[in-house]
Amino acid sequence: MNATIQSLFDLTGKTAIVTGGAMGIGSGIAIRLAEAGANILIVDIVEKGEALETMNEIFKTGGRVEYLQLDIAETASIDAIIEKAIMVFGDIHILVNNAGIFKYLPVTHLTEEFWDRTMNINLKAAAFLSKAVVNFMIAKQHGGRIINVSSIDSLKPSGNLATYDASKGGVRMLTRSFAKEVGKYGITVNDIAPGGVNTPGASKIMGDQVSIEQLEAMKAGMEQFVKTLPLQRMGEPDDIANATLFLASKASAYITGTTLVVDGGLLLI
Ligand SMILES: NC(=O)c1ccc[n+]([C@@H]2O[C@H](COP(=O)([O-])OP(=O)(O)OC[C@H]3O[C@@H](n4cnc5c(N)ncnc54)[C@H](O)[C@@H]3O)[C@@H](O)[C@H]2O)c1
Repeated sequence: MNATIQSLFDLTGKTAIVTGGAMGIGSGIAIRLAEAGANILIVDIVEKGEALETMNEIFKTGGRVEYLQLDIAETASIDAIIEKAIMVFGDIHILVNNAGIFKYLPVTHLTEEFWDRTMNINLKAAAFLSKAVVNFMIAKQHGGRIINVSSIDSLKPSGNLATYDASKGGVRMLTRSFAKEVGKYGITVNDIAPGGVNTPGASKIMGDQVSIEQLEAMKAGMEQFVKTLPLQRMGEPDDIANATLFLASKASAYITGTTLVVDGGLLLI
C-alpha cells in the first residue's frame, strides 16, 4: 500500500480525448475525468454550441477543455484529433471511444447505407483512432489507457438493433485484440458495457418519425422494463463516467482486455 486513495484517482497532468463528449454518456465522462484533473479534448460531430453546457461544467471546476468538431467516421480526419490534442495540451494519455449511434431497425429492413454508417462510427472510427493513439503512446514511451464504450447489447441483444449489436460485438473484440498487442507498452485497453442509460440518444432510439402513440407505448414499456431490473432504475451518464474514471485511473493498473458491465443487473433478467 504505497498510494493514497486520492492519488489513485488523480489524473492531474493527464490528457484525455473523449469522442461524442458533447452530450449524453460522453458528457458525463468528460466532466468526471476533468474533475479528476485531466485536460479534456471533446471530439464531436455537433456544433460547438451544443457542447457548451458540458464545457461550462468543466470550466466551473477549474478544468481545461477544448472542442473539435468533426465526424469520426471520416478516418482521414483522425490525424487532426491527435494534432489538436498535442497542440493544445502537449500529450495524450487517455482515449475514450464513446461516440456511437443506435436506432431501431428490424433485420427484415436492413440497408447497406444504415449498416455502413453504424459500423463506420461505432467500430471503424474506434479502431483507427485507437491505432493513431497507441502509435503516439508507444513513441512517447509513457503508456496509457484506452476505454471503449461498447454496450450490454454486445452480450445480450435487446431486439431491433442487429447492426448496432454487431458493431458493439466488434468493439468488444477490438478491445481484446488491442489489449493483447499493446500491453507490453504499458497501455491498457478495456471496454464498458452500459445497460439502459438516460441520454438524448436513448430518447430518440425509435428515430425521428414516431407518433405520439408510439412514444407513449415506448415510455410505458420502459417503465415496465425498469421494474424488472435488479437495481430498479435506468442508468445515468454519471454511472458510466464513474466506471470510466476507474479504468482511466491507477486503481485499474492490472486490468486489461476486459469488459466492465454497468447495467443495473440487466444481464440477470
Ligand atoms: N444510452 C444508452 O442506453 C446506451 C447503452 C449502451 C451503450 N451506449 C453507448 O454509449 C455511447 C454514448 O451513447 P449516448 O446514449 O450518450 O448517445 P447520445 O446520442 O446521447 O450521444 C452520442 C454523442 O456522440 C456524438 N456523435 C454521434 N455520431 C458522431 C460522429 N460521427 N462523430 C463524432 N461524434 C458523433 C453525438 O453528437 C453525441 O454527442 C454510444 O457508443 C452508445 O452506443 C449507450
